[in-house]
Parts: sequence; structure tokens; C-alpha cells
Amino acid sequence: MRKYDFSKVRAVFWTALVAGFLLGGMGMTNTADAAFKVGAKKCQECHAEEAKVWQGTKHFKSFKTVHKDKRAKKIVKSIGDKRMKKSKTCNLCHYSGVQKKEGGKVKVASGPSCESCHGAASEWISVHNDYGKGVKRDQESASSKAERFKKSEAAGMIRPEKLFDVASNCVTCHGLANPNLDPNHAAVMLDNGHPLKPGWEFVEYSQGSVRHRFYPRFGGANQETTDAEKSQMYIIGQAAALVSATKAASNSDHPKYKAAQQERIATATAALDLIKGDVPEAGKLLSDPSVENGRALWEAIKGKDLTGAVGSKLPSSYK
Ligand code: HEC
Ligand code: HEC
Ligand code: HEC
Ligand code: HEC
Repeated sequence: MRKYDFSKVRAVFWTALVAGFLLGGMGMTNTADAAFKVGAKKCQECHAEEAKVWQGTKHFKSFKTVHKDKRAKKIVKSIGDKRMKKSKTCNLCHYSGVQKKEGGKVKVASGPSCESCHGAASEWISVHNDYGKGVKRDQESASSKAERFKKSEAAGMIRPEKLFDVASNCVTCHGLANPNLDPNHAAVMLDNGHPLKPGWEFVEYSQGSVRHRFYPRFGGANQETTDAEKSQMYIIGQAAALVSATKAASNSDHPKYKAAQQERIATATAALDLIKGDVPEAGKLLSDPSVENGRALWEAIKGKDLTGAVGSKLPSSYK
């Protein structure tokens, strides 16, 4: 018996692929043409502190464990693949495939890593830290810096300051909503025990094991995030979930998948309702959950203290 309408699933799959490329063009994912991952070891050469933090996370540690999980074997079989590390589908979220050069052999090097969150780096690694010939960091002009940031983003870098883009990227994995994931695979994976936690929340998941805030603007220490910043992150995490879940829900007819996405939409809507009276961009995003409107919301609340409206929603402990 055919459970799903495959012609529809296929159409949706292509729509998702095209959407993926469109998003890529806007710097949302790393389809920046031929961009590929160079691997965390390269980043570590200059970002030793960040690497140390990453090595303490589940992202890093799961590389040695997740494929041994009983559920993993069942799930990977359910979509017709044999081994997790070799499965293109599992690789979308669980692993970092690293290349030495364009078109070179892809080596599954680690779990989700620096470039899973900051974008595949082949095209931006030598751009993002280039202050100009003979110019030191504190001598760089504001316009040169702005230009460097712009170039890095165009080359596929997801810069930490672009919080909506950062959060949107987390939820492609954590909402089981990668635009390149075949919705039919997502459905079968869910039926075979793959987790999908509709309650995933950006502050809770980013401020524990994952948090690294060393580099220049934080003055060298792994600085705690202020409550005002967390209130912005809470809203942006929900905004990212709203955009992602709306798209994901429309891509699938699978009841469990759809229900989970609807739950994410409901939570996000309730969160944005809390600020929409003061921030018109929140209302605009609610009526049209697009990437542009999500980014506009971030620009509107950046630097604002929203703890009055959402302080009670902030988690008291972190993952
Ligand atoms: C050769 C040294 C070097 C390497 C290698 C390197 N970085 Fe950087 N990175 C820097 C410097 C220097 C800065 C600070 C740039 C500045 O002053 O804005 C930076 C900044 C960053 C930032 C913050 C950017 C911002 O806009 O605030 C991120 C994120 C980052 N690097 C990620 C990575 C990742 C991921 C890798 C590996 C793929 C990597 N870096 C490899 C030197 C390096
Ligand atoms: C769209 C992204 C995505 C894809 C594709 C994906 N996973 Fe996952 N997987 C996740 C995330 C995110 C988690 C963690 C969920 C949580 O607990 O918050 C996870 C958790 C798991 C877990 C539970 C691990 C644990 O520590 O509890 C197993 C097992 C698993 N995945 C197997 C697979 C297999 C096998 C495939 C390929 C068929 C696969 N996943 C494909 C995102 C994905
Ligand atoms: C490329 C996919 C991917 C991206 C992007 C990603 N994650 Fe994950 N994350 C995973 C997977 C897969 C797991 C589960 C690993 C396992 O259990 O084996 C996970 C686990 C975690 C955990 C551990 C949860 C626990 O129950 O212990 C935290 C915390 C986390 N992610 C936070 C984040 C945050 C915050 C972001 C964005 C800034 C992010 N992740 C982006 C794939 C991803
Ligand atoms: C789970 C997603 C995730 C992973 C994995 C990750 N980062 Fe980040 N990174 C972030 C987020 C989110 C921020 C923004 C922090 C903030 O501004 O509060 C950030 C900020 C940064 C910054 C600027 C702040 C600082 O600490 O200097 C640098 C540099 C950076 N990351 C480098 C790296 C490197 C290098 C790795 C790998 C060793 C890495 N990141 C792994 C999500 C991630």
C-alpha cells in the first residue's frame, strides 16, 4: 500500500530543492557556488578557544556514538541506506564532510562542526580575517571592515552578528527541516523513531555547552550573554522556527511531522504576539513568515531590551 502520494512528494521535493538554492543565493545556506567544508582543524589553528568549547559539545562527541545507537540502525535501514556515515541523508545533519579541494574526495571528518553553523568555509576562510595588506586589526577602516563582512557573507559565511541567519541554520537540523531532506525520508525516519523536538528553543540550546564568545568584541573571555541579549535571542529563535516550520509543514502530509511543525508554529506565534504591539516587524513576520521579514525583525530588535515582554520565557538552565 502506498502511504504517500509520491508525485506530490516529488514535486514538493523539487520545490524544496529550488527553495534551498534560492536561500543559498541569499546566504542562508552554503550553496555559495562551489563552497565546501575545509574542516575544524583549520579553524582551530586560529580559534583554539572556540575549538576547545566545541570539543566539549554533543556535536563533537556524537561522532563516535550516534551510529551505534540502536535507533540509528533501524532509522538508516528505513530509508534504504546501510550505514549512517555513508548515508547522504544522515550526512545532511549529523556529519561534516570535508574536502581538500573543489571536486576532491569528501571525507566524513566529524559531527556537526564550526562550518555546520558558520557556513562551509572554502570561499571565505581567507577573506573573513583579511584586514588588508600590512594593516593590523585596529588600523582597519570602518568601510574596509564593512566590505570584509559583506564579502565573507557573499562567500557563504554565516556571521554571528546575523542572528536570524544563525538561528535559521540551527533549526534546519533541529526542526528536521533541512531544505534538501526529502520529506518522504523525514516521514519514514519519524515513523522509525527519529527524534523531533518541537520544543527546541534557541536560548536553551545555545547558552550551555555550545556557547563561545571569545573573539574580539568579547575581549577574550567566554563571556556570558546578558538577559537583554537573551531576550532578543529568544524572539529570533522563535522567528526562525516560525519561518522554517511554516515551510516544512507545507512540504509534507505526514501527520506526525505536520503536527510537530504546527506545534512549533503555535509556540512561535505566541512568542511574537508578546512583542508585536511594540514591534510592528513582529506582526509583519506573523502575517508573512519569510526570510526577509525575519531578518527585518532582527534589525528592528537588535540592541533592545525585551525582558519586560519575554523575560519570563527565558530558560533557567541550558543544554
Ligand atoms: C588564519 C587565522 C584564522 C583561521 C584559519 C580562521 N579564522 Fe576565523 N577569524 C580570524 C580572525 C583574525 C577573526 C577576527 C576578524 C575580525 O577582526 O573581524 C576571525 C573571526 C571569525 C568569526 C567571527 C566573525 C564575525 O563576523 O564576528 C567567525 C565566526 C570565525 N572567525 C569562524 C572561523 C571558522 C569557522 C574557521 C574555519 C573554517 C575560521 N574562522 C578560520 C582568524 C582565523
Ligand atoms: C534534518 C536533520 C537530520 C537528519 C537528516 C538526520 N538527523 Fe538524526 N538527529 C537530528 C537532530 C537535530 C538530532 C537531535 C535531536 C534532539 O535530541 O534534540 C538527531 C538525533 C538522532 C538520533 C538520536 C541520538 C541521540 O543522541 O539521542 C539518532 C539515532 C539519529 N538522529 C539517527 C539519524 C539517522 C540514522 C539519520 C539518517 C537516516 C538521521 N538521523 C538523519 C537531525 C537529523
Ligand atoms: C548540521 C546540523 C546541525 C546544526 C546546524 C546544529 N545542530 Fe545542534 N545538533 C545536531 C545533531 C545531529 C545533534 C544530536 C547529536 C546526537 O545526539 O548524536 C545536535 C545536538 C545539539 C545539542 C545537544 C542537545 C542535548 O540534548 O544534549 C545542542 C545543545 C545543540 N545541538 C545546539 C545547537 C545550536 C544552538 C545550534 C545553532 C547555533 C545547532 N545546534 C545547530 C545537529 C545540528
Ligand atoms: C552549534 C553551532 C556552532 C558551532 C558548532 C560553532 N559555532 Fe561559532 N558561533 C555560534 C554562535 C551561535 C555564535 C554567536 C555567539 C554570540 O554572539 O553570542 C558563534 C560565534 C563564533 C565566533 C565569534 C565569537 C567568539 O567566540 O569569538 C567565532 C570566532 C566562532 N563562533 C568560531 C567558531 C569555531 C572556530 C568553531 C569550531 C571550532 C565554531 N565556532 C563552532 C555557533 C556555532
